[in-house]
Amino acid sequence: MAEYNYECVKIEIRDGIGWAIMNRPEKRNAMSPQLHYDMDDALGRLETDPDARVVVVTGAGGNFSAGQDLKKFFRELENDPFERKKAQRHANSWRWQRLYNYDKPTIAMIHGYCVGGAFMQLLATDFAIAAKTATFSLSEVNWGILPGALVAKVISDAILPRHALYYACLGDPFDGDEAARIGMINYAVPEDELEAETVKLAERLMKKSPAVLRATKQAVRQVRTMDFDQAYDYLAAKGQSIKVGDAEDSYNTGLRQFLDEKSYKPTFEPFKLGTLLSDQRD
Ligand code: ACO
Repeated sequence: MAEYNYECVKIEIRDGIGWAIMNRPEKRNAMSPQLHYDMDDALGRLETDPDARVVVVTGAGGNFSAGQDLKKFFRELENDPFERKKAQRHANSWRWQRLYNYDKPTIAMIHGYCVGGAFMQLLATDFAIAAKTATFSLSEVNWGILPGALVAKVISDAILPRHALYYACLGDPFDGDEAARIGMINYAVPEDELEAETVKLAERLMKKSPAVLRATKQAVRQVRTMDFDQAYDYLAAKGQSIKVGDAEDSYNTGLRQFLDEKSYKPTFEPFKLGTLLSDQRD
C-alpha cells in the first residue's frame, strides 16, 4: 500500500475507501498554504491508487473546516506575491479542478464547522452527507470580503438563487437539515451515524462499474452548460466511449443477466460486477 505522509493532511485507506482528512484540528482545520499543498498532492495520488475506489473528504477533530486560514493564507501572504499566488493556485486546484473532474466518486463528510472557502470542496465533490448538528456559514460578508475564489459561483450553480443570496448576504449559520433542504448536501444524519452512513454510500458506489460511473458523473456535470444539440452529440459520443473503456462490459453483461439469466432487475440494483463471461474478457 502506498505511503502518505503529510503535515496538514491525514490519509487513511480502509476497505476501498480513501479518507482524505484535513488535519489541523486545533485550528478547526482552517486551510493554511501547507494544507493546500498537502491535499493537492494527496488527492492526485489517491486518484491513481488502486486501493482507493471512492474518496471521502473530511476534517479531523469533529470539524470539516473553518475556511481559509485568516493568518497564514491571508495576512502572512499579503506582502509575498509569489507565495500567495502559489498557495492560491494549489488551493483552487484541489478544491475545484481536481475534485470536480475526479476519476473516482467523491463524498464530502461534514461535521462541526464548514465555513467560507470550505464550500469549494464541499460543492466540488459528487456527494455530500452532513451531521444534523453541523454548522455551515458563508461568513465572508461579516468581515468585508466576497465569497471569493469560486465560492460565489459554485453556490449559485448548486442552489436556488434566493437561498444563495440569503446566506451569502446575511452570513447566517445553518445546520445540516437546512443544508439538505436548500440542496447544498444530499442528506443530513444524526452525528453518531455520520461515518456509517458515509461508508454505506461509498459501498453502494463501489458496486457500480467504475468506468460507467465516471462517464455518468462527467456527463451530468458537462451537459449543464451545453445547448440541446451539443448535449445530444456529446452524450452519443460519450456513450460510445463507455463501450470501449468499460472493463466490465456493463451493457452486454447487464443484458445477459437481465434477459437470459434473469438474475437481476436494473431498476433496483446494479448488475453483478466481475461476472463477465471469461471468453469475453480476452
Ligand atoms: N483562520 C485562522 N485561524 C482560525 C480560523 C481561520 N479561519 N478559524 C479558527 N481559527 C483558529 C482560532 O484563531 C483559534 O486559534 P488559537 O487557539 O491560536 O486562538 C483556533 O482556531 C480555535 O478557534 P476558536 O475560535 O477558539 O474555536 P471555536 O470552536 O470557539 O470557534 C469558529 C470556531 C466558529 C470556526 C471560529 O473560529 C470562527 O469563526 N473562525 C473563522 C471562520 C471564518 O470566518 N472562516 C472564513 C474564512 S474566509 C474564507 O474562507 C475565504
